[in-house]
Amino acid sequence: MNIAIGCDEAGLALKATIKDHLSSSGHECVDYGCFENEVVDYPDVAYKVAKEVQAEKFERAILICGTGLGVAITANKVKGVRAAVCHDTYSAERARKSNNAQILTFGARVIGPELAKTIVDAWMESEFQGGNSTRKVEKIGTYEETEFDS
Ligand code: RB5
Repeated sequence: MNIAIGCDEAGLALKATIKDHLSSSGHECVDYGCFENEVVDYPDVAYKVAKEVQAEKFERAILICGTGLGVAITANKVKGVRAAVCHDTYSAERARKSNNAQILTFGARVIGPELAKTIVDAWMESEFQGGNSTRKVEKIGTYEETEFDS
């Protein structure tokens, strides 16, 4: 699968680890930066990646900053995008199964590389379960419409 990936300077090293990890499992990452010796504001990278997801260029994306929070908050401003901060494998699994989150975010200053890889695996291996969750996820979209259009 092609996966969009992005980070700010705090997430640079962990992004490289995750890219290697995903490519060793046969996935390809399209890197939206930031790159070595570059300082970016996390909202700029997160917005760029979230817009690509909104345009359905990618089914899934990963965003990394210091905490995973700033990139998630930004990505969730993009209509139709659901980004989830996950620092444990159970949340990563539920983010797909219950919330149909297209974007996984985490903080390079919060978790280490081995846990991050396990979280990515849990998220990659999980699919949206549908059923009752479909109605709930659709409801997010309904509230989103109300907010964005008001
Ligand atoms: C550093 O700019 C830090 O604020 C950022 O990486 C992130 O943690 C924000 O949520």
